[in-house]
Amino acid sequence: MSKLNNLNNSTPEPNEYIENLKSYSAPLENRRNLLRLDFNENTIGPSHKVYDAIKNIKINEISIYPEYDLLRNKICLKYNKNRKFDKNEIGIFNGADAAINAICKAFGEKNKVFLTTNPTFGYYFPCAEMSGMIIKSCTYNGNNFTFPLTKFYESIQKYNPTLIFICNPNNPTGSVISAENIMEIANKNQKSLIVIDELYEKFYGDSLLPIIDFKKTKNIVIIQSLSKTAGLAGLRVGFAFGNEQIIKQINKVTGPYDVNSFAVTAASAALDDQAYIDNYVSKVKEARNWIKEKFESLDIRYNFNGGNYFLIWPNQSPEDLEKGMKENGILIRNMKNKKDINQSVRVSIGVIEQMKLFWEIYTKLDQK
Ligand SMILES: Cc1ncc(COP(=O)(O)O)c(C=O)c1O
Repeated sequence: MSKLNNLNNSTPEPNEYIENLKSYSAPLENRRNLLRLDFNENTIGPSHKVYDAIKNIKINEISIYPEYDLLRNKICLKYNKNRKFDKNEIGIFNGADAAINAICKAFGEKNKVFLTTNPTFGYYFPCAEMSGMIIKSCTYNGNNFTFPLTKFYESIQKYNPTLIFICNPNNPTGSVISAENIMEIANKNQKSLIVIDELYEKFYGDSLLPIIDFKKTKNIVIIQSLSKTAGLAGLRVGFAFGNEQIIKQINKVTGPYDVNSFAVTAASAALDDQAYIDNYVSKVKEARNWIKEKFESLDIRYNFNGGNYFLIWPNQSPEDLEKGMKENGILIRNMKNKKDINQSVRVSIGVIEQMKLFWEIYTKLDQK
């Protein structure tokens, strides 16, 4: 036995892209029992119907591999009140993250260009790099971070990107791009796959989903999830909507049972209780108006836009504010290392009582 353990060999090397990849790093641990305004999650939890459905899961649901057809049918009929989908136009993933990863795996190619904006959602970058892609990005315009349409078109012309990722509204700037502009980009670049990450769309209300016909527009994929609205971040359920041929390719690179039975049960119950989601979204919008008005009364830089979050440039250093808020039970997210906003912090918007608490502590710490 001791001889067997004496090999002292070196560790095998991963592929060349993984070797050079920076690990995705975010302060994900020890967040329970605090007011979590740092990851844009739903801040009050899911509907009781979701919780009940999970509690009532039958014992054999745990020992049988998950099934997806019932959920898929429900999504076809209930996901969007203004339209129905074809079963084959829907991909179900282990969170939107898994959808993003799968799209890059299926459509990304070595030395081909991945085009996006900057700053944007950080997980796009390792996913593109894992496929050996060359990342190009356009910065937002001006102090309000408007979408850089002209620069974007110039980059498309110059780089002929294989994949184009647009986060709409963008995390973390909240910047938005209109449905007309997206459709124009798609029409003019039919060889590129255009991925519209609509994770925060409900907080803005300009989704492409009700109007797009995937049989005609074959090069757009829309990503949504139940993390930010329905309160299912811990269970991991995300969706990709697109032309059936595209969804088929993306599904090829995911495992057959990547989404577990608890997530399926919870997602199904969440879709049965759309009123809960709509109610939560309207509460967040109300709180957004409330806290925005508060900041308008201060002499400080801030940025409110689409999404359930906003940016502020505090008087003290972002690190100090983040630390001080945490000591008072509230998590916010320092934007260090993010292009053009590294002196800011991002604050997620919950319901009004939570924003009142945030305001009380924030003004004490940063507006002396
Ligand atoms: C823009 C964006 N896309 C995707 C995700 C991943 O979401 P999910 O929890 O569905 O994996 C996030 C999470 O923060 C996000 O901000």
